[in-house]
Amino acid sequence: MFLIYPRREKKKVSLKGAVQISCNSFFVYREDETGKTFLRAPKDKKSHKYVLKRMVKLNPEISSLLGRYKIKPSVDTKTLQELTGGHMNETCKIALGVYSILSESVKDGLEMSVIKEASMLHDLGKVLIPSKILNKPAKLNVKEREIMNIHSVLGYELLKTQKISEKTLELIKYHHQNMKHSGYPDLDENNLPSAIGVQIVSIADKYSALREARVYRRKLSRVEALLILYREVREGKILPEVYNALVKYAEKFDK
Ligand SMILES: [Fe+2]
Ligand SMILES: [Fe+2]
Repeated sequence: MFLIYPRREKKKVSLKGAVQISCNSFFVYREDETGKTFLRAPKDKKSHKYVLKRMVKLNPEISSLLGRYKIKPSVDTKTLQELTGGHMNETCKIALGVYSILSESVKDGLEMSVIKEASMLHDLGKVLIPSKILNKPAKLNVKEREIMNIHSVLGYELLKTQKISEKTLELIKYHHQNMKHSGYPDLDENNLPSAIGVQIVSIADKYSALREARVYRRKLSRVEALLILYREVREGKILPEVYNALVKYAEKFDK
């Protein structure tokens, strides 16, 4: 006599989106048959790699963008850990500091939650950039620079399928833009992102990067970092009000 057992259904796990930002990390909802689970960076490496792989699958634009440079999508867990544990978190702290110092008239109704989300997630696209480019201990060549510069669009594409506001997504996409519009990627003149939002995330990103050691240079002092950014104020790339808010923040919280 044969006993026929019902075939066990494979557990379906779907990525329902909704990236949630806390004050020092981000969480991603995963929804299975039993309900929602929170995943957290940077401790839960395996789950984050899984979630990011799902994000790549959800948006074919990512593979096609990387395919132009003959790069296969692959998530670098080490980069993810370093980013979430350090630079993105630090950028978020600085961005919120600058935001809170700026006057309401300059902020022009921009919500703090948008700045928080965008600064916490701004470099997520770097997890798809090959580490030999990301960690090259020398100047990048033209081709490598081109690949490196797609990280902001990759971050935007990764998060586009998640429940994230359009305002936040735009700041992630354009966090390397400036007031002269000479950054990257090119702006869509018919659909410009919040200029003040881009300025806040961008100055926080730059200051945070300058205050960290890189494989190709030492960590800069507070004064050195502020002087470099002041040059950009003179070039018309950074708004003086935003720069002054950063100086106030740095004098108080970055001693
Ligand atoms: Fe970036
Ligand atoms: Fe960054």
